[in-house]
Amino acid sequence: MLTQTKTAPEAVTETRSNSIAFYDFHPQFDSMLSEVWQGLSETPKKIHPKFFYDARGSQLFDQICQLDEYYPTRTEVAILEKYKQEIAELAGEYAALIEMGSGSSHKIRILLDAMQPAAYLPLDISRDHLISSSQRLAEEYPWLDVHAACIDYSTAWKLPYRAEKGQKVAFFPGSSIGNFDPEDAHNLLKEIAQLVGPKGNLIIGVDRVKDKNILEAAYNDHSGITAQFNLNLLQRINEELDANFDLNNFSHKAFFNTELNRIEMHLTSNIPQYIKVAGKTFFFEQDETLHTESSYKYSIENFTQLALNAGFKCKQIWSDEKDWFSVYFLQVN
Ligand code: AVI
Repeated sequence: MLTQTKTAPEAVTETRSNSIAFYDFHPQFDSMLSEVWQGLSETPKKIHPKFFYDARGSQLFDQICQLDEYYPTRTEVAILEKYKQEIAELAGEYAALIEMGSGSSHKIRILLDAMQPAAYLPLDISRDHLISSSQRLAEEYPWLDVHAACIDYSTAWKLPYRAEKGQKVAFFPGSSIGNFDPEDAHNLLKEIAQLVGPKGNLIIGVDRVKDKNILEAAYNDHSGITAQFNLNLLQRINEELDANFDLNNFSHKAFFNTELNRIEMHLTSNIPQYIKVAGKTFFFEQDETLHTESSYKYSIENFTQLALNAGFKCKQIWSDEKDWFSVYFLQVN
């Protein structure tokens, strides 16, 4: 959950390079360890997908976005390209553009020239990736004031920029909202509504419910990049939390859960095995799965209702010709 509270800590460090201001709220070793221990103790076992995004995980995710089977990125990019002027007109005059989960900051480039923000605030959990992407962007757009913040939405944090005055627009592309369970998605949208304030706007990309075969192919690509992305989570835990997962003993599994309208990604244990994570031992039965990600898909009706419940009204929706993906322009009531 994204927590914008008055008691949120100040940024751990603030670094100002030539081109960007950088604020670090990075979760510490302890919080990752306790979350991993907790998730491995539950039945069924689970680990939060935010832990995918170390440097290697972020690179693999960028490769996923280029895959033929992974339609969301190119579909959303085409929608943004086609409607960027309309988006800019709806946003009108505003002070700051805040990107939730900015990753490589590719998509924002489509909007920057049309929207001309005074300040751009990329927020992401992957520190090094955030710094290098923000620096590259700031060099390409010398007129832009870039304030990057490394945050975990699930812990307390504070907007690292004095943008209280003037309208704020948030940009949350890639259907990343789909990686939150419905209750968390509701809370996150509510908190984005607080962040942008009355009459503030949110431009959000959301993947649609569609044919199961198309959905499942997107998460089971032939080149095995999604499998590597999923397995990299275990590699990261080995490296950062002194664990002994043998990646050969786990397999990638992804399927569409039609009842819950979500793709589920799991890692299946190929054999019965004991795993040690920072001194604590966990047992996996043969075929037992570790749930690593859910990716919810929304009909227009369901997403509009979710947004409404969180305090947003829908001003515009743009979709591709096949109705596979939609970009919503929302405004706080
Ligand atoms: C970041 N997120 C929206 C992606 C998704 O489609 O849920 C992450 C992903 N997982 C596997 N492939 C892509």
